[in-house]
Amino acid sequence: MKGLILSGGKGTRLYPLTYTRAKQLIPVANKPVLVRVIEAIHEANVDEIGIVVGHTEPEIRQALGDGSQWGVKLTYIPQDSPDGLAHAVRISQDFLQGSPFVMFLGDNVIEGGISELIKDFATNEWNSQIVLKQVENPSAYGVAKLRQDGSIEYLVEKPKDPPSDLALVGIYMFDENIFEAVNTIKPSARGEYEITDAIQWLIDNGRTVFPHVHQGWWIDTGKPTDMLEANSLVLEELTPTIADTAEIDEASVLDSRVTVQPGAKITNSIVRGPTVIGENTVIENCYIGPFTSIYHDVQVVNCEIEHSIILENSSVINIDQRLRDSLIGRNATVEQADKKPSGIKMTLGDHSHLWV
Ligand code: G1P
Repeated sequence: MKGLILSGGKGTRLYPLTYTRAKQLIPVANKPVLVRVIEAIHEANVDEIGIVVGHTEPEIRQALGDGSQWGVKLTYIPQDSPDGLAHAVRISQDFLQGSPFVMFLGDNVIEGGISELIKDFATNEWNSQIVLKQVENPSAYGVAKLRQDGSIEYLVEKPKDPPSDLALVGIYMFDENIFEAVNTIKPSARGEYEITDAIQWLIDNGRTVFPHVHQGWWIDTGKPTDMLEANSLVLEELTPTIADTAEIDEASVLDSRVTVQPGAKITNSIVRGPTVIGENTVIENCYIGPFTSIYHDVQVVNCEIEHSIILENSSVINIDQRLRDSLIGRNATVEQADKKPSGIKMTLGDHSHLWV
């Protein structure tokens, strides 16, 4: 079994963060989503992984290297234009040839990993296995209509009028039959070669596609609210640890669900978990509330923050109001304005969103 991770795309719904960073590298509970994907595949004993990359290839290469840090061997497969998931399979054919494979979208986070799914696929004669999840907004996804007996009647990509609430999760298993499918289908109305259409082709042409309905949580981290939700869910799963090299003074109070990474320094602060404080981050005179991930080399002084993600090298200083539900990028500064003249002062990147 091989793995194929799709990590192209512009991530426009996460602007401005994704102007300067591949969306798959944004951390959830202080670990990039893409690293979570690699770990999930490795945990299922699949170590030979192709990674389809677009214009953010240099950054992804820099972050992941050859994959040996996670015990896998990565092969980079450049996709010149974002022509769809089925197109990504098409250009990966040489790499994938001769082995069934699991395809995992690099921005998907799923509870419980994929080991069981891979085992099921390996021990059955199916040509493909897909993963479905009940969602409230099926129109945003590929949708499956199942028959009474649980088999697939048909699939449709982002339907206006969804035939069910079962969305296609971005995890798919295929054997070599998928190559005929991806080489035969035509582009969709949005001009992309859709994997949903390729799977429909398998069904129409008598191949067996098994639908697994996932019971745990699943997040496609497309929007800031998805990132915050994924962050909360993953934080809840974390086994808390306090690094030996972390410095926490006597005046600080941390509850049992707080993770503190090496070199972090916490002074005169209250930290309530589930929360993670990154490497060499400084927290001083603060309240850090549940569901917060503060990444590496961040400075937070005289503030209250909860249910938020703060990326590396940023600082949040002397803010009177509690910061909540926020996603703050790298090298950003949030600080108190001069008292007079009163007013709000800002330098915001394109597509930023500020609630005052
Ligand atoms: C893609 C697929 C869609 C699937 C989704 C899962 O959508 O086309 O069928 O439900 O991933 O994350 P996209 O995220 O490219 O809009």
